[in-house]
Amino acid sequence: MIAPESLERAVELLRHGGVVALPTETVYGLSANAEDELAVRRVFAIKGRPATHPLIVHIPGVEHLGAWARDVPEAARKLAEAFWPGPLTLVLPRTARATDAVTGGQDTVALRVPNHPVALAVLQKLGGGLAAPSANRFGKVSPTTAEHVREDLGGDVDLILDGGPCTVGVESTIVDLSSDEPAILRPGGLAAEDVERVLGRKVPVRTTSKVRVSGSLESHYAPRAGVVLAEPQQVLARVQELRGQGLRVGVLGPEGLALPPDVPRFDVPDEPAGAARVLYARLREADAQGHDVLVACLPAESGLGIAVRDRLSRAAAPRG
Ligand code: TXA
Ligand code: MG
Repeated sequence: MIAPESLERAVELLRHGGVVALPTETVYGLSANAEDELAVRRVFAIKGRPATHPLIVHIPGVEHLGAWARDVPEAARKLAEAFWPGPLTLVLPRTARATDAVTGGQDTVALRVPNHPVALAVLQKLGGGLAAPSANRFGKVSPTTAEHVREDLGGDVDLILDGGPCTVGVESTIVDLSSDEPAILRPGGLAAEDVERVLGRKVPVRTTSKVRVSGSLESHYAPRAGVVLAEPQQVLARVQELRGQGLRVGVLGPEGLALPPDVPRFDVPDEPAGAARVLYARLREADAQGHDVLVACLPAESGLGIAVRDRLSRAAAPRG
């Protein structure tokens, strides 16, 4: 665990306009006091993210919901009680506490209580909200270890808190409850089935909303290498085809795939939650080895498999 002095230092920095990278259960976040506009602007600058893309505000507990959201429908209460702290973000009508700097000028705010002892300790000591996007440069693969953050952002942040590897591994599921029709804006670390069970209704995925959800840009989460998607039974054929073009090919997928012996495989298990946990780390490892192209074996389309398929599809999209 993290030394208490480091937590104190993080909170001190955050109270004075600092930017601190910290672990959550999903991915590492690049955090600033959500009520400090200059600090929030630094987060955008460090990430290289357009200022109109809103940030998630992380809060210490469900009892803070009313301070940030002016209207908290029954559905929001139910989901918050069932899944917070956890990999769920709720989009709700904002109060004045959620400034334009954080929301990109929208009338809604995205809120979440992260389930990581370090993030929760910092939030509780601070007693306020932390605006925190994933701690990577805009459009790149999100970090799931402190080392990833160091590689990406190193000297640009005031402090990096190391809370070990993230246990969920993909970003939170974003549920929009700001209108009468709930919708999933980003599939993520909480399965859609779980959201639907608690709400007792179907909740459609609407990743092409008017709101600027940067994770919903087609080309996002992109490593340097090209990414080609394949269902398990197509992997071998894709590999052979790409090698035939003279490319250096690596595979992201589970053991048991039939592959030529000299093709490196980066282990991404079949089981969706296991795949989510290691996905970003494997993409980075594979990328570091300088392959031209990675053939990614897609997990089953249920549970966290939906989020893994979503991130892989974006990594495979044409680069803008
Ligand atoms: O798991 C996560 O959610 C991580 C950790 C650090 O908490 N955070 C994260 O932040 O993924 P970021 O900024 O990379 O993605 C947040 C997403 C963005 O796509 C943003 O556009 C969307 O949340 N978002 C924020 N406020 C919103 C709003 N008012 N309406 C709709 N989408 C919003
Ligand atoms: Mg991100």
